Amino acid sequence: MITRIASTINKMVNSEITINEIELLIEQPKHAEQGDLALPCFRFARTMKLAPNQIAAQIASGFTCEGVIKVEAVGGYVNFFLDILTIAENVITEIITQGNHYGDSDAGQGRAITIDLSSPNIAKPFSMGHLRSTVIGNAIANMLEKNGYTPIRINHLGDWGTQFGKLITAYKRWGEENKVRQDPIRELHQLYVYFHQQAEIDESLEKEGRQWFKCLEDGDTEAVALWKWFREVSLEAFSRVYNLMGISFDSYHGEAFYNDKMRAVVEMLKNADLLEESEGAKVVRLDDEGLPPCLIMKSDGATLYATRDLAAAFYRQDHYAFAVSLYVVGNEQTLHFKQLIAVLNKLGVPWANDLVHIPFGMILKDGKKMSTRKGKVVLLEEVLEQSIQMAHNAIMEKNPSLHNRKQVAKQVGVGAVLFHDLKVFRQNDIEFSLEDMLRFEGETGPYVQYTHARACSILRKAAWNQEYPTSFTTFGKDERAVVKQLAAFPEEVEKAVKEWDPSKVAKYVIDLSQDFNHYYAHTSILQGVKEEEKAQRLALVHAVSIVIKESLRLLGMEAPEEM
Ligand code: ARG
Repeated sequence: MITRIASTINKMVNSEITINEIELLIEQPKHAEQGDLALPCFRFARTMKLAPNQIAAQIASGFTCEGVIKVEAVGGYVNFFLDILTIAENVITEIITQGNHYGDSDAGQGRAITIDLSSPNIAKPFSMGHLRSTVIGNAIANMLEKNGYTPIRINHLGDWGTQFGKLITAYKRWGEENKVRQDPIRELHQLYVYFHQQAEIDESLEKEGRQWFKCLEDGDTEAVALWKWFREVSLEAFSRVYNLMGISFDSYHGEAFYNDKMRAVVEMLKNADLLEESEGAKVVRLDDEGLPPCLIMKSDGATLYATRDLAAAFYRQDHYAFAVSLYVVGNEQTLHFKQLIAVLNKLGVPWANDLVHIPFGMILKDGKKMSTRKGKVVLLEEVLEQSIQMAHNAIMEKNPSLHNRKQVAKQVGVGAVLFHDLKVFRQNDIEFSLEDMLRFEGETGPYVQYTHARACSILRKAAWNQEYPTSFTTFGKDERAVVKQLAAFPEEVEKAVKEWDPSKVAKYVIDLSQDFNHYYAHTSILQGVKEEEKAQRLALVHAVSIVIKESLRLLGMEAPEEM
């Protein structure tokens, strides 16, 4: 609808402002008397050389567009009143015929977008930061796909670096194979923590750690075998979390993958005369950019995180020819990505500015960062299991006869954690609270899932045979809000994609759920209504269930039909 109005306006104002820009200008007024949609005209004033209220009046007087019944100019705004019957007919028919493809677009034209997400560090607990990256990155990938892009999910595992020399040292001194097999992440992490405690007393440890890392880099059989084993058992543990969340990756090329690809990068920097000595190390100076120098190589020849990221950027461009390359990584690495992009620009790489860092805030517990400090580990797997258990308890209380309780508990428990994260704009910090996440009312995952289950249950009760009416003659004020929400879905997804912001979809589906629940509370759907009225309302309910389910899918969540 908004597109149709925007394209009509675009023809009328005859300026260089595109349909797309006009779409973004169009607002949904708070008060019904201001219409269903409103266009502020201030943006046109300069190009049209008229005052905004004159432009508004001009648009209002000549405007015709199917589905719009009244147009009014008020000050610098044009208010549009929509014919709800026409909209309902268009939108509901579209949703029911397209199903989960409602809102798809081919804006991306198949172009590849790589998404660097999750990227936990081997032999370390999966942190809350990695949870955020996983959840946000996956939702962005789903949204991109819906808009016609080809997302490539890359798990850039932290599987290389001096810490592995330390870990090998610790394992060889104090480790036990059995214990590591039983609970790899916890055990390896504890060994690592213990190493640091001991290193404060015993100076030789650091040196031994460096030696083992050197062995590893030189391909020493024992070192490599241990590293491989640590990687493997860690990945197994991470996979359990990914399976719980229903997330998969197109690539697990981590930092180690770039070991043999960094020489070329260093050569390139050298040839471009960008490498400088600094206290024995090699750096690229970024003074002109107002950034600290980017460390490329340590004095002992060891490469660094940034060097690996440079190599990875080239590899991804060669391999996937990305149109955009996203990095879903916490706020604290903002400087790293600025440096990365700056170095690529210095190299004159044409795609340097197609790299986009998508930062996010922290998950807090009682106002403090949830950390893995000193062996006190918050294991994400445990958080998810606990959430599933709590969801199970809630189901036992509300609907003990539900046949697939276990499965639903998993969908709700995991969904609750995901939704809690995604409903907040990613840059904001979020407070971690399982109790809040699992509430069935308020802005929670379970609330939205429950609304979907309610819609499905209405359809089940009605034994609805998918026969839907082609006109919606009985719709009025009550249906209006729900129908308008349904119509807004494609634009909301598009906006969310443009701003790399899944919280837009989360907020949208909360609004839709609230409007639907309000409708349901005030309108009888099955009882005491005429057949034709019932058919129209059931079609609406069905459309709502489709759009909620699809919104949840975009967010990486499931939509149980009963709960
Ligand atoms: N492993 C890193 C960490 O835990 C995140 C990696 C992000 N991706 C990247 N290409 N740098 O901090």
